[in-house]
Amino acid sequence: MATIGIFDSGSGGLSVYREIVKQLPQERYVYFADNAHCPYGEKTAAYIQERARAITDILLGMGADIIVVACNTATAAAISTLRAAYPDVPFIGMEPAVKPAALGTRTGVIGVLATAGTLKGSKYLNTKGRFEDDVHIVEHVGEGFVELVEKGILDGPEAESVVRASLQPLLDAGADRIVLGCTHYPFLQPVIERLAGPLVQVIDPAPAVARQTVRILAEHGIPTGDGPFSVDLYFSGEPDSLQRIFALVS
Ligand code: DGL
Repeated sequence: MATIGIFDSGSGGLSVYREIVKQLPQERYVYFADNAHCPYGEKTAAYIQERARAITDILLGMGADIIVVACNTATAAAISTLRAAYPDVPFIGMEPAVKPAALGTRTGVIGVLATAGTLKGSKYLNTKGRFEDDVHIVEHVGEGFVELVEKGILDGPEAESVVRASLQPLLDAGADRIVLGCTHYPFLQPVIERLAGPLVQVIDPAPAVARQTVRILAEHGIPTGDGPFSVDLYFSGEPDSLQRIFALVS
């Protein structure tokens, strides 16, 4: 049985946890929500690196064999410093799914919704550079999306109006693929899909990240599949919203 440590700035990483559990239903999970310091989106890279180190120490102290950085913003800011600081620990990161969107688009326009931190990260900029000769990539920060999810507002008039403000510019540009570049956003996917209409496909990278977790555990020879399932939730702030979202993915 593997112990899989997962962290995010809040409840968003539970969208990744949900997919990993589908692939690996018999492991021990330890999830840390840094919700006292959420959102990460507008914080400096140095701040996020410090938080990521502190949380990694906590998860390793709980016996994690692998760490899933279930946060695009923390991946952009901190995964290379984490890998350098803990060379023996396998880390899995998040990256906006530009490739499948670029390969699938019919209009030649793809939209990326992410935090400001993710959109200015070098990893994303490199990926974007590889595809932008072939497709037009339009971006928008999902303004207020993280706050909605942390408040547990996943649908209804308020969610619709907040989502519409950031989504509409991408639709107006002709995007027929919308990449969810923040792990909080899949909890708003029903609203995003409804507003975008049936011709637009919304892409959540979490299933691919779950498959990657399976591969990396195997590569490191970490046995899986033989233990009772368990999950422990930890948080630096209030438990309420995390528990609400956790109920949705359980
Ligand atoms: N869920 C995170 C991400 O994927 C962080 C959002 C935030 O805290 O701003 O980017």
